[in-house]
Amino acid sequence: MEIPQELIKRLLKAKHVVVMTGAGVSAESGIKTFRDPDGLWAKLNPAQLASVNGFMANPELVWEWYQHRREIINESKPNPGHYAIAEMEKLFPKFSLITQNVDRLHQQAGSSKVWELHGNIIDNRCFTCSEPYTKEIDLNDKSLPSCPKCGGMIRPSVVWFGEMLPQKVLEYAEVASKDCDVFLSVGTSAEVYPAAGLPLLAKSYGAYVVEVNPNRTSITQTADLHLQGPSGVVLPKVLEELRHA
Ligand code: OAD
Ligand code: ZN
Repeated sequence: MEIPQELIKRLLKAKHVVVMTGAGVSAESGIKTFRDPDGLWAKLNPAQLASVNGFMANPELVWEWYQHRREIINESKPNPGHYAIAEMEKLFPKFSLITQNVDRLHQQAGSSKVWELHGNIIDNRCFTCSEPYTKEIDLNDKSLPSCPKCGGMIRPSVVWFGEMLPQKVLEYAEVASKDCDVFLSVGTSAEVYPAAGLPLLAKSYGAYVVEVNPNRTSITQTADLHLQGPSGVVLPKVLEELRHA
């Protein structure tokens, strides 16, 4: 795949670059996405597994599903897409990495600051009093832990459908989107708001918006450039071109 010189030119003079990622950036690490034909939501019901009501209706089922996802994530490693993004932060005066992913693979790849819009799957907290739950979790133990402080049910520190995003993270993401010169939307279907609104916000404030995705999405039309391919292939190429420019 050819990387258009227009992108390299834009990146070379950019003062602030934003990368926003979704599940697609971790697909090449062996972690299933949500909305692809073989994705998690093709067979499973998000209302049952990723919502407050779903948890209240069947907390053990939801907990077990997150334990299962943790097992998969534990066995996964960052891929060249994650590593390219980690390298990119060194190349620009300002760089912001915003992710919808909960798998912490960006941090594992060396990204120094990751703005996690949907929380993370590693930490837990009390459903009732929000106290962080810091005891080690045995992934083979299917039973739901309870809060030492109030006896409430323990839940993963992810954001579920119908919940607010962490306010500070969202605020930062919006300010960065308005401020950046180049915005890369990587491996996201851009179906879930407010994250899906960020590339559009960036565009309306004058950023050059680039989509990295093997498929078309709801933002493809708005993007200035669609680099059509897997992020683990496309991003290392962008990096290489930049280094040789
Ligand atoms: P989706 O599953 O909706 O979209 C994944 C995107 O990645 C699709 O557009 C694919 O075409 C693309 N993709 C697949 N393989 C790729 C690859 N190798 N390289 C680059 N892109 C690839 O995932 P998200 O957009 O992240 O939220 O979903 C957003 C939110 O919906 C998630 O954070 C999660 C989910 O429900 C919650 O659970 C709250
Ligand atoms: Zn509690």
